[in-house]
Amino acid sequence: MSSPAFHVEFSDVARTFATTARPSGRRTSDRRRDPVSRAEPRPVLRDVSLRIRGGEVIAILGPSGCGKSTLLRIAGGLDAPSRGRALIDGSAVSGVDARCAVGFQEPRLLPWRSLADNIALGLPRGLDKEAGRERVRRLLELVGLTASAALRPREVSGGMAQRASLARALARNPGVLLLDEPFGALDALTRLRMQDLLLDIHTAEPATILLVTHDVDEALQLADRIVLLGTEAGRPGSTIVSVTTVPVERPRERGSVELAGLRAELLDGLGIDRHGRAHGEQRTEAVPASTH
Ligand SMILES: Nc1ncnc2c1ncn2[C@@H]1O[C@H](COP(=O)(O)OP(=O)(O)OP(=O)(O)O)[C@@H](O)[C@H]1O
Ligand SMILES: [Mg+2]
Repeated sequence: MSSPAFHVEFSDVARTFATTARPSGRRTSDRRRDPVSRAEPRPVLRDVSLRIRGGEVIAILGPSGCGKSTLLRIAGGLDAPSRGRALIDGSAVSGVDARCAVGFQEPRLLPWRSLADNIALGLPRGLDKEAGRERVRRLLELVGLTASAALRPREVSGGMAQRASLARALARNPGVLLLDEPFGALDALTRLRMQDLLLDIHTAEPATILLVTHDVDEALQLADRIVLLGTEAGRPGSTIVSVTTVPVERPRERGSVELAGLRAELLDGLGIDRHGRAHGEQRTEAVPASTH
């Protein structure tokens, strides 16, 4: 079963959340009684436009709280933009989109079910039983869990559980795989193995992948292009400050000298604003080479 690998587009996406204003120095109980208190709109994302090719691997980097998960949720229809839209395969995403599968930092497996049964939960509805069994068998093999198929989540390591979770996400052969820091909770060595596994999976079933990560090296190892989200001085909300094509074919040598300059540039973009000052969590520098 080969993956459809849909192209994905963000068209002028903005997301504003309503948050209740709390006037400084006033206690919550006072605020509740205060008829003037109201929901204040807080822009989190603005002007996000990006075209992602079918089968492309995109890494999304940015400071904590800049809206990476929100953007991913919008792509999968788990959240709706306040303006603009996300499109998959040319049609607008409205509501939870069956063309996407989502993977999270925690495996979120059902503890009373075996790994195989957890993976089977991701199969599309109405799939023939035999075809479903065959799909689970293939996925177990793909993520190296054939021998552990009957074990329960508490009987396996964090890395194995995360592999099962990836397999469950793949079970219905999604055209778009949305991964929100999928390896963030794993130890360093397991994390590297999972990165290699993700590339193997992508070769075997080349879905379009949007990967949110905090790890510049992970982005450099896996992505065709790296999108940096951040704020610009004086403007509320995050936007795309750079899109960088990684100029080396995969598989890539870890810590490659060729990518050292790019790594430094991305780290700069994550840590220093355009005036060269150290900044707080939500600020980031606009780096050049914007090609989105
Ligand atoms: N449902 C919501 N209601 C109100 N505010 C929200 C909601 N979802 C997200 N936010 C706010 O939007 C901002 C961006 O959140 P988001 O989770 O997208 O950030 P992030 O870049 O993924 O951060 P992290 O790297 O820490 O995971 C945060 O300030 C968060 O509080
Ligand atoms: Mg997040």
